[in-house]
Parts: sequence; structure tokens; C-alpha cells
Amino acid sequence: MSPLPFQERLMITLKAPAKINLFLRLLGKRADGYHEVASLMQTIDLADELRLELADKDQFSCSSAPLETQDNLVIKALNAFRQHYSAPFEVRVHLSKNIPVEAGLGGGSSNAAALLNGLNELLGLPLEDEELYQIACRLGSDVPFFLKGGTAFCKGRGEEIKRLKKCDSQVVWIVKPPYGLSTPLVYQNVHLASLQERDPLLSLQEHLLGHGPYYNDLEEAAFTLAPQLATLKATLLTQGFSPVLLCGSGSSLFCLGGGYPDVPSDYFVRKAHFI
Ligand code: C5P
Repeated sequence: MSPLPFQERLMITLKAPAKINLFLRLLGKRADGYHEVASLMQTIDLADELRLELADKDQFSCSSAPLETQDNLVIKALNAFRQHYSAPFEVRVHLSKNIPVEAGLGGGSSNAAALLNGLNELLGLPLEDEELYQIACRLGSDVPFFLKGGTAFCKGRGEEIKRLKKCDSQVVWIVKPPYGLSTPLVYQNVHLASLQERDPLLSLQEHLLGHGPYYNDLEEAAFTLAPQLATLKATLLTQGFSPVLLCGSGSSLFCLGGGYPDVPSDYFVRKAHFI
């Protein structure tokens, strides 16, 4: 069936996937206060869902009440889009959350990218990819990656993106304890001088050949802030998973291989796949 013409496309539903960092290297602190990163990012099929509908009046609702605020990155993305699009429009936005927050899975950034993509489609593609990219860069370091997702090597603040051939689909377990971690706090606790010197380009080449390495330079800082996370990682390793690695700034871990993660019942546990 051919797609409906623009006038008839009043509603659109999009998936907003989570990501993991197969490796994340911190290369230094920048003059703007951010860190220079080099990371191999991968989207997974643990995803939120965003529904957009042209309406008489703007409206935002979310399946998670604490996230239903004007501070939500989805609203910031909507406002940023409006600054680039002169014609008036009103939109009803509903966000169904499945990705845990303060987990390092990029949920908020992915929601913002989905809003930009979805709104652009709903309005008949008025903005070029480059404009969407520029808006995404202003919204957050990971937002540009999520405009297309997949497998990508990201540098700079995270916004310099080299998209790669999709990794073979793999099963990955996401395990998150009931507590979360604040991204700025984790970054603040990094001791750059104590990080292992590794060449991210070499890491990338090794990944493309199919053999790791998996590492995350934010792990030490996250484990200092939440020592129970280091214990959780050790437990999952003894259960046969390898590697077990912090997702972004945490507090979730991803695990490859192994069976079913045996963790307390109040932990978030999901089986997912690379997409
Ligand atoms: O860009 P975003 O708003 O997602 O970043 C959240 C926080 O993470 C920043 O305020 C900063 O403290 C830290 N950060 C960083 N270097 C990066 C990305 C994020 O220091 N490359």
C-alpha cells in the first residue's frame, strides 16, 4: 500500500529505542565542560513508544506520571522544532515508557529524537536531515545518534557520528537495580588520570573483526557512587555472563551470553536484541 498523502497523515506512532555503549572511552575534559568521548553505540529493541497526532491544541501525556512535565526532553524537542518551522501547528503527544530512567540507556534522548523525526514526517518533511541534526545537537549529546540509531562510532561530545554496518543481532540482557544514577554526577566523579590508556580506533577495528573489547570509562566513577553496582557486576559474571558492562553512565548493566540473570525480584530485567 502506498503511503497516505500528507493531508491524511494526522497521526504517527514511532518506536524510540534504548542504546548501549559497547565501549566508551573518555579522552579528556573540553573547554565547554563536557568530556571528549569515543564510543561504539548500539540501539536495542527495548523501546518506548511515541504517538503524535495533529490536534486543535498542544497536549502532552506520559504513561509515567513523574515524566509528564514541561521539562521533559520531548517538550524541549517540540519547542526547538517550532523555532525552525514557521507554519503554526498543534500536536497531541503521548509517550509510553518502557525504558527505565537514570539507567544510562538514553531513553530521554531517544524520545527527543523520535519527536523530531515523527513531527517532521507528520508535517510532510519540511526540515532537512542537517536541520534535524543541528536541533538534536542542541538538545543533548546522544540525541543526534538516535535520529537514525543502529550501530555507530560517536566522537566529540557524542555528536560526531560515523554510522556503521549493523552489528549481527545479538541477545543482550539489561539489568537495572531499583536505584538510578545521575549522568552529570557520574561524569563529575571521573578521574581522567586513572583511566587505562586505550586507542578507541583500535577498539573499533577489533569490534569490526568481531572480538570486543568491551569497556566503559564511566564504570569506576559509577561504582564509587554506588558500590553495590560493582557487586552486581561480579555476581552476573559468576552467573556466566561475559561481558557485563555499565550502560552509559548507569545504573543499568548489559550482559552478553549466559542464561537468565538471577537478581532480586525488584530489579528491572529485560531480554533485548541489537537492532
Ligand atoms: O548532553 P547531555 O545533556 O546529555 O549531558 C548530560 C551531562 O553529562 C552533561 O551536563 C555533562 O555533565 C555530562 N556529559 C559530559 N560529556 C559528554 C556528555 C555528557 O561531561 N560528552
